[in-house]
Amino acid sequence: MAFVTRENITDQVLEVFEKTPNPRLREVMQSLVSHLHAFIREVEPSDPEFELACEFLVGLGKATSEKKNEVILASDILGASTLITLINNVKRAEAAGKMKTESALLGPFWRKNAPHYANGSNISRGPESNTSDQVFEVSGYVRDANGNPINGADVDIWQASPLGFYENQDEEQPDMNLRGQFKTDAHGKFNFKSVRPSGYPVPVDGPCGDLLRSQLRDPYRPAHVHYMISKPGYQVLITQVFADDDHRLHTDVTFSVVESLVGKFKKRTSPGEVGYSLEYDFVLQAGEMQFPAPPIP
Ligand SMILES: [Fe+2]
Repeated sequence: MAFVTRENITDQVLEVFEKTPNPRLREVMQSLVSHLHAFIREVEPSDPEFELACEFLVGLGKATSEKKNEVILASDILGASTLITLINNVKRAEAAGKMKTESALLGPFWRKNAPHYANGSNISRGPESNTSDQVFEVSGYVRDANGNPINGADVDIWQASPLGFYENQDEEQPDMNLRGQFKTDAHGKFNFKSVRPSGYPVPVDGPCGDLLRSQLRDPYRPAHVHYMISKPGYQVLITQVFADDDHRLHTDVTFSVVESLVGKFKKRTSPGEVGYSLEYDFVLQAGEMQFPAPPIP
């Protein structure tokens, strides 16, 4: 190899990577370095700017704890998580044909092993359960790509409170509050009671918060419910359904709101009824059931 120059360094790095035995790792790392070097040549970071970038990355790790995953948050607010989700959506739809449900990013708040409940149960067990005007009845059908009901699918739900906090962020809420796992019946149906979630700001006490402030960005997400739906023989569907009356549908800080995932949060108007209801149906694609790593324990 020749001595390193500003002109040849990219080719030198790519050549060294050539002998990587794993072809996918070789492809990914060569592409990463090509784009990284092109970015550096375009931006020409100063030494203090480079130090700041390193500090930001170290800060992501330091701000990550059992309560919060700042690395995933960074990926979310850069639009990277949603872009990956949308690319994989297209692959899934091409593979499967007509019917599909769009995915949405997992986010930093999914916890494994939420309590199992019978259909119709209430997942609101904290002080928020007194906010009776926020009563929330949620139901849906889970079907395969041909429209047949899927019996015995696991529907894992997590959502924020009417104050906009997940239970792990809020001392007032009991452990695993506003989280639950349900099973679909023979018609593919599941249903549960809860309280209407509120939109919320992503955590802004770490480096992601510093970045958002320096970009004058609104840190809020519109109100939504998270769903993870699974059954052996089908790909795990991870998605979110957004409140159609939320004024932040077009300014989600994580860029997650695709049109098909906006659900009708219907005001209940029958005598004696208060609150809202949401009916939203889901389609699972055949394939391997593979769960993500939980961002927090
Ligand atoms: Fe969320």
